[in-house]
Amino acid sequence: MLNRRNFLTAAVSVAAAGGLAACAKKDGSGSGSGGGSKALSLGFSQVGAESGWRAANTTSVKSAAKEAGINLKFSDAQQKQENQISAIRGYIAQKVDVIAFSPVVVTGWDAVLKEAKAAKIPVVLTDRSVETSDSSLYVTLVGSDFTDEGRRAARMLEKVLAKAGLKGPVKIAQLEGTTGAAPAIERGKGFKEIMDAEHKSDWKIVVSQSGDFTRAGGKQVMAAFLQSHSDINVLFAHNDDMAIGAIQSIEAAGKKPGKDILIVSVDGVHDGFVAMSQGKINGIVECNPLLGPQLMEVVKKVHDGQKVERWIKTKESDYTQDQAKAALPTRKY
Ligand code: AHR
Repeated sequence: MLNRRNFLTAAVSVAAAGGLAACAKKDGSGSGSGGGSKALSLGFSQVGAESGWRAANTTSVKSAAKEAGINLKFSDAQQKQENQISAIRGYIAQKVDVIAFSPVVVTGWDAVLKEAKAAKIPVVLTDRSVETSDSSLYVTLVGSDFTDEGRRAARMLEKVLAKAGLKGPVKIAQLEGTTGAAPAIERGKGFKEIMDAEHKSDWKIVVSQSGDFTRAGGKQVMAAFLQSHSDINVLFAHNDDMAIGAIQSIEAAGKKPGKDILIVSVDGVHDGFVAMSQGKINGIVECNPLLGPQLMEVVKKVHDGQKVERWIKTKESDYTQDQAKAALPTRKY
């Protein structure tokens, strides 16, 4: 995600990116949302369809583009970086006005982003960030603070432990998201930060592995965790889908999710709320997938050469079991 150095260079890169967007208009490759007859075209490369969060995000992007009158070219990369790179190259060849994408992993984007820059097509990141040697290669990120989500998950666990009255050592199993993806790296980092600073003597991550943000992955990895570590009493899952998969394995092992193994996860999708209202998940840190409207607004601004912030953060809340039942009927995703 954005580190201190990135922030220091943000002013410069926003100016550079503004120039990039302005160039896109000036040389006629863009249509402008104001006076042109052609709709602004946006090439969007989605990560995949790995989770309930992703499904909600895709719906949000598609409906917001329609609403905004943006000509959306959408592709699903099926969680593969090479598919995203070729989709972006396709959008460059089609001379779209703006490219947006949610990068499956943080590294390995410089070459294709340089190609977009050379073609004077501004790039907007959504949901996940990248690590790049040149911060002018993308204009802005519209998405969550994943490190803070990890910290919030640790704070949520404090509450859950207090409510459950768990005595003795806290033996945590961690289901990580996709290896190398920003939310996996940063949620793990934020959680560990609080754990190391305040719970070094009583909390321990005894086992940690990727479940690739999928239900099947969560189920499979949790089954293996339970075989090797029968004393786990907490699960921190980097998303609800993996927690839901893990619940199946916990029940298959004859244990009670939410009681024998306390569970904290991230996202706040409908099925996560259902599991929480059934007492099977103890607390959820929200990661809002409804980024479409904000993204379209930013895409229009960037195309018009307007200045935008380097990181447009999403607003989110945290939910305990007590709040789940009341919140469930009005959950939008
Ligand atoms: O990048 C956001 C993460 O990706 C969500 O938390 C997870 O469910 C999704 O797959």
